[in-house]
Amino acid sequence: MIRAWTKWMEKRISNSNFFIDMYELYYKNVVKNEIRLARVEDKDNILCIGGGAVPCTALQMAMETGAKVHVIDIDPIAVYNAKNLINKKGLSHRIQVSNKNGQEIDIRDYDVIHVALQVSPKEKVLENLWKKARKGTKIVVRMPKKGLNYFYSSLSCGFLETNDINCERCSAKKGINTMDRTLLMVKN
Ligand SMILES: C[S@@+](CC[C@H](N)C(=O)[O-])C[C@H]1O[C@@H](n2cnc3c(N)ncnc32)[C@H](O)[C@@H]1O
Repeated sequence: MIRAWTKWMEKRISNSNFFIDMYELYYKNVVKNEIRLARVEDKDNILCIGGGAVPCTALQMAMETGAKVHVIDIDPIAVYNAKNLINKKGLSHRIQVSNKNGQEIDIRDYDVIHVALQVSPKEKVLENLWKKARKGTKIVVRMPKKGLNYFYSSLSCGFLETNDINCERCSAKKGINTMDRTLLMVKN
């Protein structure tokens, strides 16, 4: 329900500069911490899975790091709106948007992969990423607050243990927020 609402809301605001600016504020510190967590540099190739109609994470990553970003989403309408927004901002040479599924995407060209909170089924997407990642690939995954696990697709406890994954983490901001923390998994 929360996932569907976020998607719907992003599509509604994707034409309004005012609401986009407000929405960007919500993500500002979260993305800043994630950039620091994954030590993202301008030479990195970033993949954002689940960018939505207003791909704030991708926009901020590109602006703050100077890196090139590829955003994917399984929803063609979200992709259409995101492309328009990025064109309007004059950033289409730095941020590419495609209609693809994180469960199947080939990731060999990317150094950093960001997985949005609403991506589903999260464990299947992570299985695909972990299987295809080369040594040193950084995977950044947003996790929901504990009480909201029912509303979001999440990772099972066994996933990290079975795949012997060590995680670093950073916390999301406090207050009214559906995110709890972001995990960083580095393929070894
Ligand atoms: C509403 S957005 C929120 C992201 C936010 N705008 C940001 O910048 O971080 C989440 C998107 O994830 C997409 N999504 C969910 N599962 C996916 C998957 N398996 N592969 C690609 N996109 C997915 C949804 O279609 C939705 O548009």
